[in-house]
Amino acid sequence: MGIRTALSNLACRVRHPYLSDSFAIRSHLTNSERVELSRLAQAAGLRSIVEIGAYLGASASAFAAGLARARNTAATIYCVDTWNNDAMSEGQRDTMELFLRNTAAYRARIVPMRGWSTGVVDSIGAQAGRIDLLFIDGDHSYEGCLADWKAYAPLLSPNAVVAFHDVGWADGVRRVIDDEVRARIRREKRLPNLWWGELG
Ligand SMILES: C[S@@+](CC[C@H](N)C(=O)[O-])C[C@H]1O[C@@H](n2cnc3c(N)ncnc32)[C@H](O)[C@@H]1O
Repeated sequence: MGIRTALSNLACRVRHPYLSDSFAIRSHLTNSERVELSRLAQAAGLRSIVEIGAYLGASASAFAAGLARARNTAATIYCVDTWNNDAMSEGQRDTMELFLRNTAAYRARIVPMRGWSTGVVDSIGAQAGRIDLLFIDGDHSYEGCLADWKAYAPLLSPNAVVAFHDVGWADGVRRVIDDEVRARIRREKRLPNLWWGELG
């Protein structure tokens, strides 16, 4: 980690103490990214968040802390993962128990959906109805990211926000945004490795 990221992470810890649970969880997300994800979860009227790629719970905890900060007790976070470290450079292992332990404080808001992202989409559609906030952070290959976008885009509400992680290095993720997503977006923003946009 570079000195700038280290300083930025430290500043986030001081400025955003409500995210301390998320900051404590190991993840490739920077603290600034966790702050942005929690901000996205604070949107008024938000009812359903779906994240593809939950890993050890850092992004799920950031979303949950955002909901708590907005006093939103109506929204649900659907966390999709095989919890088998699929498409991860560190190799396969069962991470579900650690995810559940790390996110225990937010149990009432989080619904874990164990399975392949394209396999559980129908079940999510049946439970969540429309998706107001979609975060794609699973398989970063072009084929994997495209499959996630094609499976979940039909469930998005008209003004949904969609976010993608690892746009800084994953060519496939950038290609999906460029070729498929951007045409449906009216406003977009990004950090070096996180991109998000609002449909419209
Ligand atoms: C980069 S990690 C997610 C990081 C997480 N958002 C965080 O807060 O740290 C990617 C996760 O996606 C999962 N995964 C990869 N491909 C998947 C797929 N097609 N369906 C479900 N989960 C998948 C992996 O098991 C891994 O836990």
